Amino acid sequence: MHDVLLVTGGAGFIGSNFVIDWLSCESAKLVNLDRLTYAGNLQNLSSVLDDERHELVVGNINDSQLLSGIFQRHQPRALIHFAAESHVDRSIYGPEEFVETNVVGTFRLLSAALEYWRALPLSDRGRFRFVHVSTDEVYGSLAENDELFTEETAYAPNSPYAASKASSDHFVRAFHHTYGLPAIITNCSNNYGPRQFPEKLIPLMIVNALAAKPLPIYGDGENVRDWLHVADHCAALRRILADGRPGETYNIGGGNEKTNLEVVRVVLHCLQELVPRSPGHYEQLVKFVADRPGHDRRYAIDSSKLRSELRWCPEYNFEAGILATVRWYLENTEWLNNVTSGAYKDWVAKNYSVRFGQ
Ligand code: NAD
Ligand code: TYD
Repeated sequence: MHDVLLVTGGAGFIGSNFVIDWLSCESAKLVNLDRLTYAGNLQNLSSVLDDERHELVVGNINDSQLLSGIFQRHQPRALIHFAAESHVDRSIYGPEEFVETNVVGTFRLLSAALEYWRALPLSDRGRFRFVHVSTDEVYGSLAENDELFTEETAYAPNSPYAASKASSDHFVRAFHHTYGLPAIITNCSNNYGPRQFPEKLIPLMIVNALAAKPLPIYGDGENVRDWLHVADHCAALRRILADGRPGETYNIGGGNEKTNLEVVRVVLHCLQELVPRSPGHYEQLVKFVADRPGHDRRYAIDSSKLRSELRWCPEYNFEAGILATVRWYLENTEWLNNVTSGAYKDWVAKNYSVRFGQ
């Protein structure tokens, strides 16, 4: 086994933040397998593409032959699996892709990892780790006064995205339970921060507000999410890679429950500070639109296990994190122009023309 970390999906939002973070504070080499779908972007990795400790492999996690070649060639001591289709609204329009990547892809990755792990010397087997990055959406929806999601909360996925992630979690669990693969599952709440594709709430609001376009709020805007800065998520994952216990699940959350309207207000407040407009200019762009089908009302994470066992604690305060995020989008107009050209426009037309029409 070599001092190499295998990452999947490292050109996406969280993956690229993790890769950049890892290379700045760890010594191990990193192999980054990414298919470069619409969500994977080489520009996300521009600061590390020349780093000789970073090797990018453009390929699909569903390709078993490619996977076994990577395991043989690099002999990684751990794998962290980010690659996925990650957007709920897209899963409503086209769930099959989510089954292909999130379920079948994760299964293929587990199979290749198992084959590699079984051939390792016994002393290395105990040290290998398979960290599966998942979501709090597998737990379903909370009512206003319900207790937070813990690692014991029963799975109740409601969207095709959540169902595909829940299924992948079950395969990870089964590979640990049945074959002994030293796997760990993490379930994290909504992330925000630099390099998030502007199909998700926060970057979409920034992009639309800057262009003076309507800000689409689904339903009544009172749905609650528990927001975590991506840097805090990456720090948690590094702690889990280092000291997490195989077979365990760790919930990761920011303790920042906000309604969507509250989130949008903070974003607009930051924009007003950084790009001032006449009073009320940004607010008048807010538009209530048709709700997402099956829209989960509330997610909220209890991360006390991670906090007490692995001494992790988020560092970002929500308002400061959003201000830094808005600033990042303002300073990275080339990135933004590139990701919002072409296919992005087709997606916006598909998802929003119907909503605004109602
Ligand atoms: P993202 O959509 O920004 O990035 C996904 C990455 O995976 C892209 O680089 C894409 O090219 C790559 N990819 C997709 N299919 C692939 C395939 N078949 N083979 C290889 N690479 C492939 O996603 P994200 O927001 O960075 O999320 C990363 C992971 O974290 C996902 O597993 C997601 O479920 C999970 N997660 C996300 C959030 C969030 O708020 N974004 C919260 C909790 C958990
Ligand atoms: P999103 O960023 O898609 O994350 P998730 O669905 O995984 O939680 O959405 C966050 C919340 O914002 C969710 O309640 C849906 C809502 N939302 C809107 O109101 N308008 C939008 O245009 C988008 C993309 C999301």
